[in-house]
This record gives sequence, structure tokens and C-alpha cells, in this order.
Amino acid sequence: MEAVLKNVSVTVELLAVAARSNAVSQWDEQTLSRAFHWAKYCEHIYSRFHNNTAIRRVMEQQLQITNQSLRHVFPGYSHVSFSDLRRCQHVLLVGLLNNPELPITIMKTLFKTPVNIINNDFEDVTGICSHLIRCKSACKVLRPLSALSAVGADAEVQGEMLMERLGAMLSQGNELCRVEHFLCSVLQDSEGAVQHMCLVIAAALLTAKGSAEQTASQDFLLEWLQSRHNLLHNLCTMLPSAILKELAKGHQKFRDSFCHMLKKWATEMEYSITEGEWINNSTNTTVTFQKLTEFFLLLFEACPSVRRNTEEEMRLFKISDGDFDVQGLSVWGDLLSELNK
Ligand SMILES: *[C@@H]1O[C@H](CO)[C@@H](O)[C@H](O)[C@H]1NC(C)=O
Ligand SMILES: *[C@@H]1O[C@H](CO)[C@@H](O)[C@H](O)[C@H]1NC(C)=O
Ligand SMILES: *[C@@H]1O[C@H](CO)[C@@H](O)[C@H](O)[C@H]1NC(C)=O
Ligand SMILES: *[C@@H]1O[C@H](CO)[C@@H](O)[C@H](O)[C@H]1NC(C)=O
Ligand SMILES: *[C@@H]1O[C@H](CO)[C@@H](O)[C@H](O)[C@H]1NC(C)=O
Ligand SMILES: *[C@@H]1O[C@H](CO)[C@@H](O)[C@H](O)[C@H]1NC(C)=O
Repeated sequence: MEAVLKNVSVTVELLAVAARSNAVSQWDEQTLSRAFHWAKYCEHIYSRFHNNTAIRRVMEQQLQITNQSLRHVFPGYSHVSFSDLRRCQHVLLVGLLNNPELPITIMKTLFKTPVNIINNDFEDVTGICSHLIRCKSACKVLRPLSALSAVGADAEVQGEMLMERLGAMLSQGNELCRVEHFLCSVLQDSEGAVQHMCLVIAAALLTAKGSAEQTASQDFLLEWLQSRHNLLHNLCTMLPSAILKELAKGHQKFRDSFCHMLKKWATEMEYSITEGEWINNSTNTTVTFQKLTEFFLLLFEACPSVRRNTEEEMRLFKISDGDFDVQGLSVWGDLLSELNK
């Protein structure tokens, strides 16, 4: 630990030198590369220890001591905290760019465009600014898109990539089970990010249908979803209703699965006399009767022709429940009257 503390402390001193000392005028590419190496080291230390409170505390103490000694050398020096270590390369870069002593050759290295980076000895630092600029520009270009896009720019890009990959696999004649395996591995392994995954799937299904290849990929994804009840359940309960509606509008197969799921949810409901409403009698209720009604209305709005068949079906179910016009006896009867209010 001693050694780590020492190394972190030295790197923080290096950051101060990079930003404030005229020693920078002597820097060459090798110094630059080494500086970024140490900055990366600190980022690594951060990601390794940030959730360890004990180590974190020790580090913060060390950084306070370093802060104090640096204050003496560089008046106006601003403290580098433990959480600043997360973006140490960025701090280093900004410090360098603000230092008037930075040699022009170093400046050129930082701004080199990627075409001439190949076979460069200092590959890691060459063009680092150009890279940042490209990232920032991309963010800037994408930002208005993310406001326009219901699913968000991230999910949209990932959805498109998913479509491309699926298209490629299907057109190369991969065995279907391999394609399914691929879908399982990318779409079901994200325990912590279920909602994001739902958005990616929605984005994939909402990419404009252009080529036959794209239609085939979307069909494949929809069929795969039909047998994934949990995933479908999550899609229906986690996606914003505007997106659900678009999906139901755009894809017959989704519409069918969605309608099937709503009917399944209805059969799982039981009338609670004490509460005076339909509730899911399984342990954990996620969809209320109210929500279920809203889902049916959303489906009918997305595709009015579904309404007639579905209501006809509900009427038959109601008849088989005894056809009473009394609340609480048939979930179908109560849904019908709620839907036609
Ligand atoms: C600290 O830095 C030195 C090089 O100056 C390196 O040899 C050593 O492995 C580093 N220690 C740790 C714990 O990272
Ligand atoms: C700290 O985070 C890492 C992953 O970033 C994880 O593997 C580790 O279990 C976490 N430790 C604690 C104490 O939370
Ligand atoms: C850094 O050191 C200066 C001088 O001792 C002190 O005034 C300042 O509060 C310190 N900053 C932090 C965040 O500890
Ligand atoms: C009812 O609960 C069961 C078990 O928790 C669940 O699988 C089902 O999706 C729920 N139905 C609704 C409509 O919430
Ligand atoms: C839910 O209600 C139905 C109808 O009353 C009943 O058959 C079923 O066993 C109940 N399920 C649970 C999990 O309580
Ligand atoms: C029901 O939900 C609670 C809290 O959300 C959870 O602790 C419990 O395990 C769940 N029970 C079942 C059967 O899913």
C-alpha cells in the first residue's frame, strides 16, 4: 500500500508540474508518454479501490498532504481529490494545454490526426486531442438526436448494431440455433440493465424497414421474443407507452404477443372482495387492473382492427363465466365495461 500511495502522490505532483511548471518546456514525446502512463495508472488505482472505504480514506489523507506541499510550491494550486483520479488523463491533458510553456512539438503530437499514427512510437498519446475532439463532436451531433429519439441515442445505436449483426448472421446462412445463441448472449446476460436492454430491442424493432434483410432480422427477433416470456413481460411493463404503441403499430407479431400477454395477465387476476378490485393473486402484483385496461386501450389505438376481435373474444369469455352484469364476477366482463366507458 505504501508503494501505491507513493506512486499516486508522485503522479499528482506530476499533474501539478504539467499544469503549472515551466519545466514542461523541456518535455519531449517520451516524457509525455510516461506522464500519460502514470495518469492511466491512477485511473486504474481509482477503479480498483474506489469502493473500498478504508483504502479510499487513506488515499484521501495522502492527497491532502500532497495538496498542502504543492500549495507551497505552486500558489493557487487546486486540490486533486480521490475522485478526480477517475479522469486523471483528462486532468493531465487540460493542465498541459493550459500551460503556456508546452512546446509546440508536443502540441502537434497531441493534435495529430489518426492517419499518421501508424508505426508511431508514442501511439498512446499521439492524436489524443483529435480523438477527444471527435468524441465531443460526435456527442454534439448526436445530442439533438437523443432528444428526438424516444429510446435515446445510445439504445438507438446499439439497436442498429444489433440489426446489422443479425442481418449478417442470417444472410451468411448461420444455423438458426447459433443466431438464437447470439441473441441470448447479448440480450439476456444483462441482469442489471433490463430496462436498457428493452430499449435496445425496441430500437432494433423500430429501425426503418428498408431491405428484405432488415425485415428478416426483425421477424427473427420477434419470433425469438415470442418464446421469451420474461423478456416480453419486461418489454411490456418497462417500455414507455409511446414506444409500446409504435411497436404494436409497426409489427403484427409484436401486436399478437402483446395481446396474448394481456389476456394471460387478465386470467391471472382474481377479485378481492376486501379491496373491491381485481388483483393479481400470484404473490407479487406488477400490473394492476387499471394498468391492464390502459394497455388494452393502447393496443386498440395502435391498431383499431384488433379491437373488434378482442372484444368479441372477451364477450365469449364473459359468457362462459356466467354472463352476469355484476362487478367482480368475470374479469372479462369488467374489462369490457371499463374499455367501453
Ligand atoms: C510504483 O512505481 C514503481 C515505478 O516507479 C513501480 O516499479 C511499482 O511497481 C509501483 N508500485 C505499485 C504498487 O504500483
Ligand atoms: C468493488 O467493485 C468491484 C468491481 O468494480 C467488485 O468486484 C468488488 O466486489 C467491489 N467490492 C466491494 C467491497 O464492493
Ligand atoms: C489544500 O491545501 C490548502 C493549503 O493548506 C488548504 O487551504 C486547502 O483547504 C486544501 N484543500 C483541500 C481540499 O484539502
Ligand atoms: C402475476 O404474478 C405472477 C407471479 O408473480 C407473474 O408471473 C405475472 O406476470 C403477474 N401478472 C400480472 C398481470 O402482473
Ligand atoms: C389464483 O386464483 C385462481 C382462481 O381463483 C386459483 O385457481 C389459483 O390457484 C390462484 N393462484 C394463486 C397463486 O393463488
Ligand atoms: C415479492 O417482492 C418482494 C419485494 O419486492 C420480494 O422480496 C419477494 O421475494 C417477492 N416474492 C416473490 C415470490 O417473487
